Amino acid sequence: TYTIAQSCVDVLDKACIEECPVDCIYEGERMLYIHPDECVDCGACEPVCPVEAIYYEDDVPEQWKEYTKINADFFEDLGSPGGASKSGKIGKDHPTVAALPPQAA
Ligand code: F3S
Ligand code: F3S
Repeated sequence: TYTIAQSCVDVLDKACIEECPVDCIYEGERMLYIHPDECVDCGACEPVCPVEAIYYEDDVPEQWKEYTKINADFFEDLGSPGGASKSGKIGKDHPTVAALPPQAA
């Protein structure tokens, strides 16, 4: 799967959403999250993010390694909604993300 890392927090550019053929990039309050079971590894989202927040899971930089689990855990209570556009904005974040201080724009 692909992972969205901390650089997305408080940026939420959303260019990635437009590229995903399977609509598996879901919007939280402060960042977006890729559904690990719905992502088909097409990689289309990665180059369009202006802050380079998206990585293939094996390529996530060391300081953001926990974000692969953070993306997965975000869906723990949501299951596999099967489409981000119909889910709309999800009014929560992973607790680790929710606890971050405001990130510089
Ligand atoms: Fe975030 Fe980049 Fe998408 S900032 S919303 S991962 S384009
Ligand atoms: Fe979508 Fe990116 Fe995966 S475009 S299929 S989330 S690699």
